[in-house]
This record gives sequence, structure tokens and C-alpha cells, in this order.
Amino acid sequence: MTEQRFVHAQWSSRLAFILAASGSAIGLGNIWKFPYLAGDNGGGAFVLVYLLSVVAIGIPIMIAETLLGRRGRQSPINTMRTLAEEAKASSFWSYVGWLGVIAGFMILSYYSVIAGWAMAYFFKINSALFEHIDAAGSTKLFEAFKSSPEFLGIWHTLFLSLTMFVVRKGVSGGLERLTRLMMPALLVMLVMLDFYAMGSGGFSQGMAFLFSPDFSKLTGEGVLVALGQAFFSLGLGMGSIMVYGSYLPSDVSIAKSSLFVIAADTLVALLAGIAIFPLVFANGLSPSMGPGLIFETLPIAFGQMQGGWFIGMLFFALIFFAAITSAVALIEPAVAFLSENKGMDREKACLVSGAGCWLLGLGTVFSFNIWADLKWMDKTIYEWVDTLTAEIMLPVGGVLIAIFAGWVMSKADSEAELKLQDPRHYQWWLILVRYVAPICVLLVFLDALGVI
Ligand code: PFF
Repeated sequence: MTEQRFVHAQWSSRLAFILAASGSAIGLGNIWKFPYLAGDNGGGAFVLVYLLSVVAIGIPIMIAETLLGRRGRQSPINTMRTLAEEAKASSFWSYVGWLGVIAGFMILSYYSVIAGWAMAYFFKINSALFEHIDAAGSTKLFEAFKSSPEFLGIWHTLFLSLTMFVVRKGVSGGLERLTRLMMPALLVMLVMLDFYAMGSGGFSQGMAFLFSPDFSKLTGEGVLVALGQAFFSLGLGMGSIMVYGSYLPSDVSIAKSSLFVIAADTLVALLAGIAIFPLVFANGLSPSMGPGLIFETLPIAFGQMQGGWFIGMLFFALIFFAAITSAVALIEPAVAFLSENKGMDREKACLVSGAGCWLLGLGTVFSFNIWADLKWMDKTIYEWVDTLTAEIMLPVGGVLIAIFAGWVMSKADSEAELKLQDPRHYQWWLILVRYVAPICVLLVFLDALGVI
């Protein structure tokens, strides 16, 4: 099959787009990664840079990416190629789509390993071992779990197989139903844990850690990590929002839907941080525990609560659902590409991309045990895959999307597509997408490299 322009089914409503886009945005990035990165990078100052990145860079790029998707109405690679032709620009722009396909594929390889941890903890938390467990006990259990390549490998395999099963079924049905239920439940769960954290004895220390910025604790690399986390958490810069945008009916407001998704995503990350850091301090743990942070901290709380085993199971089930709706978005660009351009049917496209992800994911599995000492420039394989994607590929992809939407696409086209009621809003967006987002990302890169 050659360059056939697929006509996608359109989203039934604005709600469906919002649900799918928040399903992609809200995931391990909010609940697992945001707290651990904030903990590793000194807290408040990191959180502030993260929030600034979301507002100044995340908002305009989310709007830009959705806009390109709706105008191109194909997979990211073909969308970029078509839109570049339309604007009489170089076909180089289709590489933005490529970058996204590769980034999504790489991210899913480790995402699936961590989601596997959540699945394992769903079963583990219901064990007497966790009853009234203290910090040392919880750390010991997590270390023992992490040190087994077989366990991590099995859970990784299971999560990835489930993801590919959902992807094979196509985009709208199952996902929408999942997200509609999962999102409010997750919110309620986090608020409950926040209340629990309030009474834990570490609340004021936790809040101070999270919200009073101490810039002496933030390095140049820390600023880049915060920026990368903004892209990662919003699911930007790799074309998955573009895929969702391509299903959006033309009468729906892109700006309003994007703002809603961004607000929900940020709220969930903050609520997770507010639940976790008080527990860290109340139990004498260190905030900079790395990727194990929530798996070592939260079980202590579940172990102390009345009926904590049940709440714990519910919590890990919700993380699993949040993770799978993001995982589907991560691999969708690759699957769409293989089926549109390589003539594979969806089943084969899923098998090929899933198998590749699984293999690469073994690198992450082993990074936590047998290859923990296998480092290059002080980073394990997992850390390299994470750094390359979140700190380089997503921001670069995002800036290219911003430049394309702001400079290459004609103003008439972007204005017509956005249909903002107030013309000043269009001007604001244009300034953010043309100047603010690209310049900020450039400055952060230069800062991290030590040039400025
Ligand atoms: N936003 C997801 C999270 O925070 O867990 C991860 C993600 C999904 C990143 C989709 C990128 C993406 F395209």
C-alpha cells in the first residue's frame, strides 16, 4: 500500500478528545516521575521551573501540536509531510514525525517496566508483610523486588502485552470508556491520600520542600530535567497529541480543550507530590530516593491505614489504568506509521512495535539489577533512555512543532484552524509559540551545557 491518505473516524465530541488527551497526559509521569524528580532535584525550585515551563512552553505547544494534527489528519510523519507541502516548505519537516515515533517507542520501553512495578504492587500490597511496615522494611521489600530480573521481566512482558492488545483494538472505544471512569477515581484517591498526609506529622516539612524554592539546590541540568518533565507529563513533542488532534471535529475549540487537559495534568502531579513528601519526612526517608520513591513511601501509609490493603490495591489499580492510557498514546504514532506507510495491518504493526519495545525494555529491567553498574558517563541504560527522550527528543520535537506552527504555516491557516473568539488571544499564542517557547528551550539547553 502506498501513500494512502487515511480518513480517520472523528471523535464523537469534545469530551472524547479531552478524555483521550488527558488519558495520554496523566500517567506515571504525574504520580511516579514528578515526585521522584522533584525529590532528586531539591524540591521547590524544581517545581517552580516545572510550572513555568508548563505555562510558557507547554500551553502554546500543546495548542500547536493539536492544531497540526487536526489540519493534517494523518499519522505524525504524514501530517508533517502534507502540511510542509501545503506551506511549500522542505520535506525535512517529516523528520519531526520520525523523531516522535522513535521517542514514543523508546519511552514505552521503560514505561512498561515501571507500570509493571505498579501491577506487581497491586498484588503485593494485599500481603501481611506490609502491615504496619516501617521505612526500613518497605525499602527492603522494594530492593528485593527490584533485584530480580525475572520478576521485573515478567511484569514488563505482561504490561506491554496488555498495551498492545488495547492498541490493536483501535483508538476510540476501549480507551474512552477506561478514561472516563479512571480519571475522577484517581483524583478522589489522591485527595484522600493528601488528607492522610496532612495528619502524618510531616505535612509542613513536605509542603515547604515542595513549594518554597531554594535555587541553590537547582543545577543547570535540574532546570533541563524540569523542562523535560513538562513535555513528558503533558505528552508533548512526539506527535501523540497530533494523532489525537487528527480525530478532533473542526468545530471544537482547540485552545479550550488544551487548557483543560493541561490544568488536569498539573493538578494530578501536584496532588501526588502533596501526598508523598509529608510521608517521606514523617518516616525519616530521604526525598532523593530516585525511581523507587513512591513504591517505598506509599506502602508505609497503606500499612498503617485501617483497610489499607484495599486502598493500596485500588491505588495501584488506578496507576495501572493511568499508565495504560498513556502507553497506548506512546506507541500509537509508531503503529499508525507502520500501518499507513509500510502497508502492515494493525495486528502486524502492533506485533512488530511491541516486540521491539519489549527487547529495548530489557535494558531497563537489567538497569535495576544485573546491569546496575553498567554505566556510561555515570548513567545506566534506563537513565540514558530517559535522558535522551525527555531531555532531548521531546523538547527538540516540541520546538520544531512550535516553529512549524508559528513560522512555517501561514498565519491565515493557523488562525482559521484555532478560531479564537478574541483576536488578542491569537496574538498571545503567536508570540508564545514563535518566540517564547523556542527561546526558553534554547536557553535551558545552553544552561545545561554550561554555556551560559
Ligand atoms: N504523559 C505521560 C505521563 O505523564 O505518564 C507519558 C507520555 C504519554 C509521554 C504520551 C509522551 C506521550 F506522548
